[in-house]
This record gives sequence, structure tokens and C-alpha cells, in this order.
Amino acid sequence: MGNKNITSPYSTFKWQMNYDNSETYERYIVPTWMTDLTSDLINAGGVCPKKRVLDVACGTGIVARKAAGIVGPYGRIAAVDLNEGMLRVAGKCAEHEGVNGIEWYHSDVTSMPFMAGEFDTVLCQQGLQFFPDKATALQEMKRVLTPQGTLALNVWGRPENSPHVGVICDVFTEYFGEDSTIIFRAACSLSNPRELRNLVEEAGFSNIQIRSGMKIARHPSLTEFLPAYFSIFPIAAQIAAMPEEERTRMFQSIETNLAGWRENDGFAIPTENYTLTAETGNSSSPGE
Ligand SMILES: C[S@@+](CC[C@H](N)C(=O)[O-])C[C@H]1O[C@@H](n2cnc3c(N)ncnc32)[C@H](O)[C@@H]1O
Repeated sequence: MGNKNITSPYSTFKWQMNYDNSETYERYIVPTWMTDLTSDLINAGGVCPKKRVLDVACGTGIVARKAAGIVGPYGRIAAVDLNEGMLRVAGKCAEHEGVNGIEWYHSDVTSMPFMAGEFDTVLCQQGLQFFPDKATALQEMKRVLTPQGTLALNVWGRPENSPHVGVICDVFTEYFGEDSTIIFRAACSLSNPRELRNLVEEAGFSNIQIRSGMKIARHPSLTEFLPAYFSIFPIAAQIAAMPEEERTRMFQSIETNLAGWRENDGFAIPTENYTLTAETGNSSSPGE
């Protein structure tokens, strides 16, 4: 692209820049999809003053930061993620918001640096579907909970109930082939409530409740949002390497197919979500 004059409406996002994915995640994904889900998850987990709460796969820490204000000075908030960039942004956001006392841990969910029974509540927002070893992850969440502990997690629902998924997957398949949609397939991979329940049950949890709900994902500018959104996906390098005109055509094609969900210059897209709650009490360990 060099010094060429760029006239594309998508040029506000500079593909040639070395963009920090976690900053982009916090700036675009969190307010569009995660913030709205966070309060529901915290309520579902019964978080209240003095509780000891663990946020698993915390990302940039939206759940931990909100929960910290509820548990107060006599509670405890710890947060775990595998991605150091996410944790760095999480710490910066907490500092910026004046939220103190969150313990941040760089760790895989399948082997967390905690003793058995350290937490009253484990929260996991849009994380489980991405773990390669979901069974071990759930067993580990159960291990760190007290015998009366609560698990609350959420996962995206059926792709057909979240229109952007189908639109983006169709366009990506056309331009890059089906493999480019793998991240969306992973994101929606636990959208069968029966499978989700079985997974959690097999890890030894009891009293499992699953509730579906719709949220509206909003951003005021689709033109600004699309390039930023895609920049955090593995496909970003291929998008960056496209000729400017072709890239613009691809974005325009997505915009056209999302026309039904336009709101002024931005979008308002329904997105389905499942919230699951479960308890550690009165169940035997897996294999018993
Ligand atoms: C979609 S993000 C959700 C982040 C956050 N919970 C939120 O609400 O914004 C999924 C997160 O799972 C984390 N993750 C994926 N695999 C993990 C693992 N095995 N152990 C810990 N974290 C993991 C990723 O690094 C990423 O931050």
C-alpha cells in the first residue's frame, strides 16, 4: 500500500500497522458483545459481598473488573488467562478504572495455580468452547470450588440465531475457503444445550440449569468495526495482503448482507447466548 492515497471507507484501520490484538479486543469486542452479558453472568453466579470469585479465561478482565465492585474489600477476585497480552490489557483497564485487588494469573485452565476449594464461585464468559480439553477444564474448575460452590458460564448459541455468523462465514468461504471460518465454528461449537449439559454433568457438577437469551450487539460504525474486528482473527494476515480494491469489495459485500441489521451508520445484530449454572454439591467425582 505504501504512500498511495487510500480512498476506501475502510482505510481508517491501518492494516500495515502492528496492531495489538488485546487492545483491539477490549476496544471493539468487549463493548459490542461482552459488556451486556457480564452482569447476567455475575448475577447467575450469585456473586455478592465477601464471595471468593474466580474468572476463568478472563481475557481483558471485563467479568473480574465488574465482579470486584460487588465482592468488596472482604471478598476475593482472581482471574486466569492463557494469553499474556490479554492479561496486560486487563491490568491496565483495572488500573484505569481504579479497581484494585484483582489477582491476575497467567495459566492454562486445565492446571490452575490454586488449592482445592479456594473459591465460592467460578465464572467463565465465552471461554469453554475454545478450550481444547473441555472435560479437564471443567474438572479443574470443580476442583478449585468449595463443596458448596457455584459455576456460571456462558457460550454463544446457535449460529442461525446470530445473523452475522452466517453472513461473515459465507463471505470468508467465498474469498478464503472454508478453513477461514474455523474460529466462528469454534465460537458456536457448544450451541447444543444437551451436549453442553452432558459435558458439565460428566465433570461431576449437579443441579445444572441452562437458559437461552438474546442480546443485541451494537456498534455505531460498521465501516470502522469490520476491519478492526477481523484484525484479531487468524485470517488477518491474508486480509492485510489483499489488494485494497478487493478488500474493500469484500467488506462492502459483508455490509450489504448485513443490511437488515443496520442501525444508522452502525449495526444492531441479535446474538444468541446460553447461560449455564451448576453446583459442586451432592455429586460424586467423575469416574466414581
Ligand atoms: C472469547 S475470549 C473471552 C474473554 C473474556 N472472558 C471476556 O468476557 O471478554 C476467550 C478467552 O479464553 C482464553 N483461553 C483460551 N484457551 C484457554 C486456556 N486453555 N486456558 C486459559 N484461557 C484460555 C483466551 O486467551 C481468551 O482470552
